Amino acid sequence: METRFTKLAKVEYPIICGAMYPCSNPELVAAVSDAGGLGIIQPISLTYVHEYDLRKGIEKIRSLTKKPVGFNVIVEKNAKVYEDRMKAWVDIAVEMGVRFFITALGNPTWVIERVKPKGGVVFHDVTERKWADKVVRLGIDGLICVNNRAGGHAGSLDPQGLYDQLKPLGLPLICAGGIGNEKDFQRALAIGYDGVQMGTRFIATLECNSHKDYKDAIIAAAEGDIVKTERVTGVPLSVIRTPYVDRVGLKVGPLARWLFRHRKTRHWIRLFYNVRAIVAMKRSSLKGVSTKDYYQAGKSVEGIDRVEPVKAVIDRFVAGKS
Ligand SMILES: Cc1cc2nc3c(=O)[nH]c(=O)nc-3n(C[C@H](O)[C@H](O)[C@H](O)COP(=O)(O)O)c2cc1C
Repeated sequence: METRFTKLAKVEYPIICGAMYPCSNPELVAAVSDAGGLGIIQPISLTYVHEYDLRKGIEKIRSLTKKPVGFNVIVEKNAKVYEDRMKAWVDIAVEMGVRFFITALGNPTWVIERVKPKGGVVFHDVTERKWADKVVRLGIDGLICVNNRAGGHAGSLDPQGLYDQLKPLGLPLICAGGIGNEKDFQRALAIGYDGVQMGTRFIATLECNSHKDYKDAIIAAAEGDIVKTERVTGVPLSVIRTPYVDRVGLKVGPLARWLFRHRKTRHWIRLFYNVRAIVAMKRSSLKGVSTKDYYQAGKSVEGIDRVEPVKAVIDRFVAGKS
């Protein structure tokens, strides 16, 4: 199963467990890497939700596997204190031997400058060709192609359409979104992708310590139950439809809409929504859903029918059997 991605990441299988706030606990990250894929550390999840000091969290992962792990950096322009913290975290990750980075939502230049001289590899999340064009010339090594089926902040193109747009760039391409079972996995490889990134599938595993209610909701949901709501982070986020989601609707109110539209207020309203979402998601992921919570998940729920060990998922995918 060697691809350009497995060679760069130095892993056996072209399978990434994408960073997930709040679901990326150390045991999940380690289990995916140990089974031959690549587990990605989400530093805010590791420190705020799972309450590890970053260094201790990476040591915990290292105690569970010696295989490579990756690190997620959300590079969106943000408060200076956030940016300084993120830079310090990336330095710690590099110092502790992490060499694979996935950047998202902004300009990855500072990450490239910090990690590539140390032999690091940087893949960047994109949803369309226009975003890829902006980062290709910066020295990116590959693209995480986030399609319209993904959990988290989904794109607008289907896996084939996005591949067709990005293939001419010549970079390794990873299909992110809609991979719930081995057939989806094989289909992505058949399109020509160098690997897949999965989020939702790995929430429904024994090693993910999200609440049982959340895992049960993923198993019970079909693809038609996934809706995109603006009400969590201010931009469309894929969640499972629940009575609460139906009651409050999917759009932000007129005041928030106005604040999001204006250049001077956009930054502050995003910050407000993000901080509020970070606090609420920690609670709902670990303590089970209250009547006012959201379950983030992608259309890959359609192919997910059981909670199982990470290794069973990966072994089944690479064997191509159900
Ligand atoms: C609960 C959840 C949280 C996520 N959080 C992040 C994140 O913090 N950073 C990021 O780059 N992507 C995040 N994602 C996107 C995933 O890394 C991955 O690209 C996506 O889940 C793939 O779609 P799938 O859920 O259909 O497998 C998240 C996805 C989910 C489901």
